Amino acid sequence: MENDIKEVYFSAEEIDKIVKKLGKQISEDYKDKNLLLVSILKGSVIFMADLMRSIDIPCRIDFMSVSSYGSGVKTSGIVKIQKDLDLNLEGYDVLIVEDILDSGKTLYYVRDMLRTRNPASIKICTLFDKPDRREADIHADYSGSLVPDEFIVGYGLDYDEKYRNLPYIGVLKPEIYN
Ligand code: IMP
Ligand code: MG
Repeated sequence: MENDIKEVYFSAEEIDKIVKKLGKQISEDYKDKNLLLVSILKGSVIFMADLMRSIDIPCRIDFMSVSSYGSGVKTSGIVKIQKDLDLNLEGYDVLIVEDILDSGKTLYYVRDMLRTRNPASIKICTLFDKPDRREADIHADYSGSLVPDEFIVGYGLDYDEKYRNLPYIGVLKPEIYN
């Protein structure tokens, strides 16, 4: 697995700092709110697990699974709900927790759909953001770090469902996906 990585982009320690900073900010901003963290599976699962533990106010969590990528590296634009939320969103201050905002098509669709369910508010927290690749009109309210236009894996992010278990963020060698 390590041999497929061209370069380590964020070490486990660096990710830890980024996540704790986000957790602190969210704890302040949502202290008088009814926070519900909505994790988009599967990429955000490790981020979610760490982020919720760095939030020190009461919150609830839920999960939803959508697919838009198949096994490739570019968004198809077609978003399909594989697993819907368990909770009714009415009255909650929903914070969508995503691994990476790329073209933005996935979150654009998800946010629109969740909005129709009458949450008190809805915002987006992404660990990584690739603004150069944005196609949909969407921005993150909370963003851990900007990343350049390279395919990264690890800490939940996959290529072809692999590398999610790497504890750091690495750039994949292009020959792996070309
Ligand atoms: P978007 O709809 O193009 O914004 O796609 C976002 C989704 O694409 C993310 O939730 C990831 O699952 C996936 N994705 C985008 N860029 C990367 C990357 O560099 N590595 C791994 N997955 C990525
Ligand atoms: Mg993915």
